[in-house]
Amino acid sequence: MKPIGPLMWEHRLIEKMAHLINDEITRIKERNKVDMVFIASAVDFFRTYADRTHHGKEEDILFRDLATKNLLPEHDKIVKELIEEHIFARKTVGRLLEANKKYLEGDINSPAEVLLCLQNIVDLYPKHIEKEDKHFFFPILDYFTKREQDAMLKEFWEFDKNMIHEKYKKLVEEYERG
Ligand SMILES: [Fe+2]
Ligand SMILES: [Fe+2]
Repeated sequence: MKPIGPLMWEHRLIEKMAHLINDEITRIKERNKVDMVFIASAVDFFRTYADRTHHGKEEDILFRDLATKNLLPEHDKIVKELIEEHIFARKTVGRLLEANKKYLEGDINSPAEVLLCLQNIVDLYPKHIEKEDKHFFFPILDYFTKREQDAMLKEFWEFDKNMIHEKYKKLVEEYERG
């Protein structure tokens, strides 16, 4: 298997979550009410799965290894755009978490902010994923030998294995801090 395999499977799940977000946008517009429990789950999904696990493998392994290669200007440009988009996604999810908390506290402006964050997320992810799937992942594989690709895939599995431990260690530490 090529190392981009797991990244592309992960894209399929992120796309499904983007559909669910779209449904929630429709519901909020219809009822002017936010499903706080869904938003909390979506924030967890985007932080733990889309950002830490998925962007983590892209940035900490794939992009790190790409940085050792002599990239064509068009590929270098895409890497920079992708990193910027990851930063934007991270910030937007942080804003969504804050807006959801404010909603819980009864802030009357928070549904609009929740809505804006959700809209930013659905505007970003499908395009970001398409850029990676259709214009980036396959051409950049050519920079790596078969041996390098195999090592990358192995490192991806190791990275994933640590995620569940990292997530719950962080959760306990957060509650311990109070
Ligand atoms: Fe990405
Ligand atoms: Fe991705």
